[in-house]
Formats: sequence, structure tokens, C-alpha cells
Amino acid sequence: MTDRKNVPLVTFRTRVRDESIGGPNPYRWENKTSDDYFGGKRVILFSLPGAFTPTCSTFQLPDFEKLYDQFLELRIDAIYCVSVNDAFVMNAWGKSLGLQKIELIPDGSGEFTRKMGMLVAKDNLGFGMRSWRYAALIDDGVVEQWFEEEGFCDNCETDPYGVSSPQNVLDKLKAAA
Ligand code: BEZ
Repeated sequence: MTDRKNVPLVTFRTRVRDESIGGPNPYRWENKTSDDYFGGKRVILFSLPGAFTPTCSTFQLPDFEKLYDQFLELRIDAIYCVSVNDAFVMNAWGKSLGLQKIELIPDGSGEFTRKMGMLVAKDNLGFGMRSWRYAALIDDGVVEQWFEEEGFCDNCETDPYGVSSPQNVLDKLKAAA
């Protein structure tokens, strides 16, 4: 991608903890828009094929969490992980990893990912439509830098991972700083 583009304006259906609800499952729906996540902020967004999948759970997400403070030193306000998974799955994934810093964005319908041009079929894995791996530096909703894994395609036989890794993104941002 060479042209700058704006992130699409969509509404994400998140589940947030609300102690006033009481009981064993005190969560309620909360709509969050692209403006809520991206408006007036300089953020890193990265996207991956699925919550709980091995590379994402063992490397990509935990490594972004570990390097979070170094990203903040580069004037990054937040780091978001988006996946074509619903809010229940994304919350359970974050809890299982003990996430404190990276914010998970549930794109359950795939609308955001489709409008980013990153929706791919993963029917070969029984996944349906998911996201191709990419990361981006996004300033006030405008994509400033783009890190997309090679070989974008449906039903990819492999799972390229390197360009969108946290270390690569950090190194490129440091080199540009
Ligand atoms: C992985 O993160 O390792 C993975 C992602 C998608 C499908 C299978 C594995």
C-alpha cells in the first residue's frame, strides 16, 4: 500500500465489566466506534487471524505487550489488537494472557477488516473469513505506516509472520524517528 488512507468508520460491539450488574457475569454491551479508538491518537494497530491461535498467543500479542513501553517512548498513545472474533472470545483471550497494556478490539462481523481490505478466507482451516496479518501506525485515523505480511491470499497454505511482528515494527519506527 502506498497511498495514505483513513481507517473505516465502524461500530465495534464490545463487552465491558460493570460491577453494578452483579452476579457471576457482570458485563454489558458497549458500542465503540473507530473515532473512539483512533480519533486524536497516534496508535499502533495490529491484526491477526484469530484469538488463541499459537503464533498470536505465544509471540505476537505477548511480545507487543512486552515492548509496549518502548513504543510509548516513540510517542505512541496506545496499541490495539484487532481480530475477526467476537467480544466474548477477545475478552477471554485477554484474560487468559493476563493482558494489561494492549487493548483488544473485537471485529466479530469482520466489517472493519473487510473495509481495511484485509479480509481473507481461511476455510482451509475451518475458520471462515478472518484477517490477513498486518500492523499499522495510525495517526488520528490516518494510516501513516503499513506493515503487511507477504502473500496476501485466500486459504493461504502458510502463515507468514515477520513484517508485522512487534520487533520489526518497533525497529522501523525507531529508524524513522
Ligand atoms: C497461529 O497463530 O499459529 C495460527 C494462526 C492461524 C491459523 C493457524 C495458526
